[in-house]
Amino acid sequence: MMSPQLALEVKPLTIEHVPEILALQDLIIETLSDKKSYYREENDYFFKALQGGDYSLGLFDRGNLVGYNIVSLPDDIQNLGYEVGLYESALSKVAHWGPAAIHPSLQGNGLLKKILVKQLKELKVSGYEHIFLTIAPCNYSSLAAVLQQGFLIKRIKLKFGNLLRYILHLDMSRTLKKPICQVRVTGEDLESQKLLLTFGFYGYSVESEKSGTTTLLFGHDGLEETL
Ligand SMILES: CC(C)(COP(=O)(O)OP(=O)(O)OC[C@H]1O[C@@H](n2cnc3c(N)ncnc32)[C@H](O)[C@@H]1OP(=O)(O)O)[C@@H](O)C(=O)NCCC(=O)NCCS
Repeated sequence: MMSPQLALEVKPLTIEHVPEILALQDLIIETLSDKKSYYREENDYFFKALQGGDYSLGLFDRGNLVGYNIVSLPDDIQNLGYEVGLYESALSKVAHWGPAAIHPSLQGNGLLKKILVKQLKELKVSGYEHIFLTIAPCNYSSLAAVLQQGFLIKRIKLKFGNLLRYILHLDMSRTLKKPICQVRVTGEDLESQKLLLTFGFYGYSVESEKSGTTTLLFGHDGLEETL
């Protein structure tokens, strides 16, 4: 349970916060059981992202940074919109999310969601329509947090050199509807997931079962949507 003494506040991040972000990032990486689940970004990455707009938000407890989700506005070359075949005209309406982190002592309290919900509203008001991010398979808390916001798993690819990542996409102009066809796959069964993605399925939910197994739900909207 979270201490009632906490005074949490979500605020925009600026370049002044880069040293604190780097310190929190180091702490996060130290405590990770799977080091490959978080890609360490350097000074320059954070400076560039934080100069690009006011969308990156931090979670503060009495002025101390305890969480963040970085938003960057991609150039033409690095735009993840290409990964899902987004129209050229939509590429300027793309924002990238991540990295994201919550202080280890505060994880498990749904705090990332507080940041994400605020960011979604602000990006929508500013005219952004597509948000992309990458998440390591088996990083279930991160996956659950973004799937709950309507993101869909669209691809599984090697990114950041040699790290396996889901590519997730949120199309803010699309109303979410129940898929016509649903398939359940265990979180670890990446081969079946890859196959489903090849056939036009998308991942849309993650469920933890009492047995300890984690299941991903994949859906398909029927042939019309894929043509
Ligand atoms: C990923 C991270 C930011 C999530 O932050 P958080 O606010 O602590 O998230 P929570 O643990 O509260 O989980 C978010 C949701 O996932 C759900 N969840 C967690 N583990 C789950 C699992 N194994 N299966 C299904 N759902 C799960 C939670 O129930 C919660 O949903 P709810 O709010 O509806 O209950 C945090 O764990 C972190 O900093 N991890 C290390 C860094 C990292 O991996 N960053 C992401 C990659 S850049």
